[in-house]
Amino acid sequence: MTQQGVLLTDTHIEDAFVEFQRVQKSYDGENLVVKDLNLAMPKGEFLTMLGPSGSGKTTCLMMLAGFETATHGEILLDGKPINNIPPHKRGIGMVFQNYALFPHMTVAENLAFPLEVRKLDKSTREAKVKRALDMVQMGAFGNRRPAQLSGGQQQRIALARALVFEPELVLMDEPLGALDKQLREHMQFEITRLAHELGITTVYVTHDQTEALTMSDRVAVFDDGRIQQLAPPDQLYEEPENSFVAQFIGENNTMEGVVKSIDGDTCLVQLDDGSEIDAVPINVHNPGDRTKVSIRPERVEFNKDRLHADAHTLKATVKEFIYMGDVFRFRMSVAGNDEFIVKTRNAPDAVRLQPGQEIDIGWLAKDCRALDA
Ligand SMILES: Nc1ncnc2c1ncn2[C@@H]1O[C@H](COP(=O)(O)OP(=O)(O)OP(=O)(O)O)[C@@H](O)[C@H]1O
Ligand SMILES: [Mg+2]
Repeated sequence: MTQQGVLLTDTHIEDAFVEFQRVQKSYDGENLVVKDLNLAMPKGEFLTMLGPSGSGKTTCLMMLAGFETATHGEILLDGKPINNIPPHKRGIGMVFQNYALFPHMTVAENLAFPLEVRKLDKSTREAKVKRALDMVQMGAFGNRRPAQLSGGQQQRIALARALVFEPELVLMDEPLGALDKQLREHMQFEITRLAHELGITTVYVTHDQTEALTMSDRVAVFDDGRIQQLAPPDQLYEEPENSFVAQFIGENNTMEGVVKSIDGDTCLVQLDDGSEIDAVPINVHNPGDRTKVSIRPERVEFNKDRLHADAHTLKATVKEFIYMGDVFRFRMSVAGNDEFIVKTRNAPDAVRLQPGQEIDIGWLAKDCRALDA
């Protein structure tokens, strides 16, 4: 219900630069792998598609790039339908996992190629190629051929080639997958800096939720050929609209129960062990509805002085204490859930609860969300 509402308003962004309207895709004429995609991006936005394997992310990029056609619906670029424009005329920069470099050209020639196609003069070409190579820390590799580079280095050249002609739209499908952690983090920063500096509109695909949250203006969470939620990172993390998103993004504790009563923006939930808690009704509607209530590990309080008098508390038994340096992590048994996680900052007064300890835990009702079961 809310999802539909979000999608519909989203479709009506003024001056959308990229727009999917009711797009469906089937490869075999039977199964829809993209079910009803409505998405509108303003110019300059950095949007990430995040979701489990097979949820349709690459298919969406391929349709936007022009390598696949939509079975139904329309894709617009700068207000114009692109269904009939061939890929090389869309002016889109691309980094796909299997979008290979030209093997017979050197790295520098690979980078210069899109500039030659666009008829830039030699000195401009050389300056842009140099800048793009420096950007991916490959300045010394201009004369090598792709076969003489490691997988990660090839990936960086592919990235440089996608950005070298300063396209208005760039599509990236897991471009940093092959890189080690340090280079990956450096490239995450470089990509977003460049995209914002050059005003590039970017559609980025990743499996890595930290990458999605740190890089994006908005994240579209995909599952089963549909966008489950489309929101800025903080909203996605703090206000998941359904159980799928709550569990897919970050860590969440869930407890199952049934809605006893709803009163505006609070509801009373009876958990399966009989205890009762207050929560915000998100996509439960009536007393009697089954629900999964969800609460983030860092929003759980167990310090007696900080437990709010008016909040419901639950009994918890500590199962495990994990020291993580900056954070203490406790595994607890709560209302029948033995995998209940609580995180607390390693502050000077932080308590190191020990396994076997029985305590009261609580949280603000506004941090606890009653979602679909
Ligand atoms: N060329 C194709 N022919 C037939 N089916 C395809 C083709 N490409 C993808 N599919 C199917 O479409 C569905 C969506 O695939 P897609 O590659 O878009 O997923 P994805 O979200 O990118 O997954 P991953 O995270 O694993 O890359 C999958 O079930 C896949 O098997
Ligand atoms: Mg994919």
